[in-house]
Amino acid sequence: MRPRPLVALALVALASLLAVAPASAQDARAALRRYGCASCHAVESVRVSRGQSCTGCHQALVERQRGRGRAPTVRHYVNAPDLSVAGSRLREEYLVAFLQDPHDARPRLEETMPRLPVTEADARILARWIRRDAPTVPAGPAPSRANVEAGRAVFTRVGCATCHELGNLDFGRNLPPEALMGLGRAAYEAPNLRFARERLDPDVALAWIEDPRAVNPRTQMPETNLSHADAILVRDFLWFVDPGAPATPARVNLDLSPMERRVRFGEVRRIFDRSCIHCHAHTDGQSASALGFEPSSLDLSSLEGVRAGVTLPDGSHRSILEADDRGLPPLVYRLMRRHEEAARDVTSPRADPLAPIARTRPDEPVGMPLGLPPVDASDVRLIATWIAQGAQE
Ligand code: HEC
Ligand code: HEC
Ligand code: HEC
Ligand code: HEC
Repeated sequence: MRPRPLVALALVALASLLAVAPASAQDARAALRRYGCASCHAVESVRVSRGQSCTGCHQALVERQRGRGRAPTVRHYVNAPDLSVAGSRLREEYLVAFLQDPHDARPRLEETMPRLPVTEADARILARWIRRDAPTVPAGPAPSRANVEAGRAVFTRVGCATCHELGNLDFGRNLPPEALMGLGRAAYEAPNLRFARERLDPDVALAWIEDPRAVNPRTQMPETNLSHADAILVRDFLWFVDPGAPATPARVNLDLSPMERRVRFGEVRRIFDRSCIHCHAHTDGQSASALGFEPSSLDLSSLEGVRAGVTLPDGSHRSILEADDRGLPPLVYRLMRRHEEAARDVTSPRADPLAPIARTRPDEPVGMPLGLPPVDASDVRLIATWIAQGAQE
């Protein structure tokens, strides 16, 4: 009997649908749960109770405090970018790199995506899942260097820089923070367009600049009302403009020499209360294990907890105050690491960082406070002094 190619093809297609599609969606959901992605990002298929969600609980808190006419006490992780809007337009390779080694893409959002222990295989699974509804856009002309200056003129005239930074370039639109508040989330969540050439496919970028809602109806970016020809000029400007010299990453050179005066735990605790106890006041390790890390039982809410350090699974303890083989107490080392990360991670407006893609993932523990702006250098010195003086009451 002659083989029937169409039937065979249909069978292959059916088999791959059954075998590949559901399995990868399942793998993706498992990875989303493992790393707690839904604690910050809204993910339709993974429900997280408000009590476990960083952004869910913080939003509720902000609403309650505003309702009582009080200023909100939380500022960070109240919102995170909507993955079904931001993620679906991004290139797969960019996502795979970003998930393993995130960088700050939004200069006006103070918090960054924390560096989670995401493996390369999981990053690939997550990237494909995030892009499952990636838009199909018409093929357009390849970006051309010849259009940079004409594109700059359009970009400046229509006021894209009201919301967007582009590396070190200054477009004369330096809105004060109060004015930005008025623009709401759109101004805070506008990416630094210096990265567009790495993040987006050129055709997706063009379609987006021409009509963002055609690419994703839920985007917060307003209509641009640009003609097709102007959109091409602007896209090419974003592609080839020199974003200015990268800011030299600040050397991380913290002064850890002990201070002359006596430091008490009360002063140290005030630092922990502000930035740490949130994730480190749970002796059951629940909150720290939620982001895919090995559970950390470290309790920084009391002197006993700080002295006890990390409780290991066999019940023994590991000190965070005694110098380890790096010659520093782990407590001080983690605070320094965050300064190092921030020197590369945090994009200040008009301080262009190094290209994100070229970075290699450091094989080092993550800095603390996880994903948040570093603790002031003077406070790190205070903590180092307290430890050197014997970590007393
Ligand atoms: C503690 C909160 C938090 C957790 C947990 C978290 N994220 Fe994020 N994520 C953020 C924030 C904040 C940003 C925006 C950072 C920026 O652009 O500066 C972000 C950005 C992203 C982006 C990039 C969007 C863009 O436009 O650049 C992707 C993709 C993403 N997260 C996916 C994930 C995935 C997948 C997980 C789980 C593995 C995860 N996130 C876990 C807070 C979080
Ligand atoms: C059950 C509710 C709840 C959950 C879940 C929660 N938080 Fe909070 N968070 C709070 C409250 C309440 C405060 C404010 C404390 C105060 O008033 O000083 C706070 C404050 C903070 C602060 C200090 C204030 C600021 O804006 O910098 C950080 C940082 C923080 N939370 C991070 C997180 C992260 C990261 C997660 C998820 C891993 C998370 N929180 C989950 C309730 C929550
Ligand atoms: C009111 C603020 C605002 C203005 C004005 C604005 N944008 Fe945006 N833009 C945004 C926001 C917010 C996003 C992220 C959208 C999202 O994820 O929903 C964005 C996303 C983009 C992206 C995708 C970038 C990436 O790396 O993911 C491009 C490209 C872009 N804008 C170009 C432009 C251009 C060109 C103009 C001027 C014609 C412009 N924008 C005007 C707010 C703005
Ligand atoms: C958003 C949650 C979060 C915040 C905020 C946070 N941590 Fe952590 N911390 C973690 C997680 C998760 C781990 C375990 C990850 C690891 O070991 O790399 C950890 C681990 C540590 C460790 C290492 C413990 C060990 O196993 O040796 C130290 C020390 C530490 N944190 C100190 C701090 C200090 C000090 C602050 C405040 C300045 C802080 N952390 C803020 C989540 C957080």
